[in-house]
Amino acid sequence: MITIKDLRKVYRQGSDTVVALDGVSLEVPTGKIHGIVGHSGAGKSTLVRCLTLLDRPTSGSVNVNGQDLTNVSDSKLRDARRRIGMVFQHANLFDSRTTAQNVAYPLELTGVSKSEISRKVSELLELVGLAKFANAYPSQLSGGQRQRVGIARALATDPDVLLCDEPTSALDPQTTDEILELVKKLRDRLNITVLIITHEMHVVKQACDSVSLLEAGRIVEHGELAEVINTPGSRLAATLLPLPGDTPTGETQGPILDLLYSGEQASEPVISMITRTFDIDVNVLAGSVEQLGEHQFAHLRIQLPLGTDVARVREHLLANGVAVTEKGGN
Ligand SMILES: Nc1ncnc2c1ncn2[C@@H]1O[C@H](COP(=O)(O)OP(=O)(O)O)[C@@H](O)[C@H]1O
Ligand SMILES: [Mg+2]
Repeated sequence: MITIKDLRKVYRQGSDTVVALDGVSLEVPTGKIHGIVGHSGAGKSTLVRCLTLLDRPTSGSVNVNGQDLTNVSDSKLRDARRRIGMVFQHANLFDSRTTAQNVAYPLELTGVSKSEISRKVSELLELVGLAKFANAYPSQLSGGQRQRVGIARALATDPDVLLCDEPTSALDPQTTDEILELVKKLRDRLNITVLIITHEMHVVKQACDSVSLLEAGRIVEHGELAEVINTPGSRLAATLLPLPGDTPTGETQGPILDLLYSGEQASEPVISMITRTFDIDVNVLAGSVEQLGEHQFAHLRIQLPLGTDVARVREHLLANGVAVTEKGGN
C-alpha cells in the first residue's frame, strides 16, 4: 500500500518559483496497479524523484506499508529507498556485467552473503523468464529481455512498491504486451503494489486497475477504470475509448450525445432501449467496444431526431448507468 498525501514540490530558479507538484494525494492498495498519465511538463518525473527520495518534497508525505519515507534521516535513506523498486524506460544495465551480475548488484550493496545472493538471483531470473540467460551480457539481449533484467534487479531487495517510469515506451507493441503481462504476473505472485508512469493509454488499458491524470502538478481525474469511464465528461474516458475516425454528423440534424458505459450491456440493448422507450430512431455515428481488464466498455456517439426531449433521454440513460455528454449538436 502506498499513500501519498498532499505532496508539493516547488523549485526556485533565481527569483522565480516553479510549482512542479501542487498537492498530489493518491492511495494505491497493496496488490493493485495504478497508472499515472500526463503530458510533458505535468510533473511526472518530479513525482518519480520524490517517490524514490532522490528529491525531497517541499511538503507532504509518502507512506509505504505504514512507513513514512519523507521523514527518514539521511542515514536511513538507503533502507527506505529499498522499499520502492524502480524500473526505467531504458533498463540502464551495466554493460560489463552479465544478467545475473546485474540482478545481484543491489544485493551486493546490502552485504548479503554470496550464497544468498546466488539463490536470490536464480529465483528472480526464473520469475522473469530469464533463467537461460544468466550469463549473457546486455549486448546479447533483446530490448524486452533487458527490461526483464531491469525488473528482476528492481525486485532484488524485496520492495513493497514497484515504480515503473515509462517502462514500455522504448519497446515494440508485442514486447510491450509481454512486459505488461509480466508485471501483472509479478503483482499476483508477490502481492506487490505497482505504479506505472506512462503516456500510453494502451498501457493503462492492458495493465492498470486504476488511473490518475496529472496536469500542471495536480491530479485532475482519478479512479478505477470502470469509475472513470462512467464519469460524464471525463477526458480520461474519452482517450481510453476513442471513437474511430471522423464521425459524420448524419443526414438528419439533431442532438448528438456521447455515451460511455461499462458492464454487460452491449451497444445493441442501449440503443434499442432508447428506441423503445422514446419511440424515436437513433442514428449511431460512431462506436467502439473494448475489453479493459475484466470488464467490457462501450463508447457510442449517437444522434437523436430533431425535437427529441434530450433531458429526458439523458435522465433515462443515467438511471441505467450510462454516462452522457452532449456534443453541442444542432
Ligand atoms: N530541477 C528543476 N528546476 C526547476 N524546474 C523544474 C525542475 N524539474 C522540473 N521542473 C519543472 O517542473 C515542471 C514539471 O516537470 P517534470 O516533472 O519534468 O514533468 P514531466 O516529467 O511530466 O514532463 C515543469 O514545469 C519543469 O520545467
Ligand atoms: Mg518527465
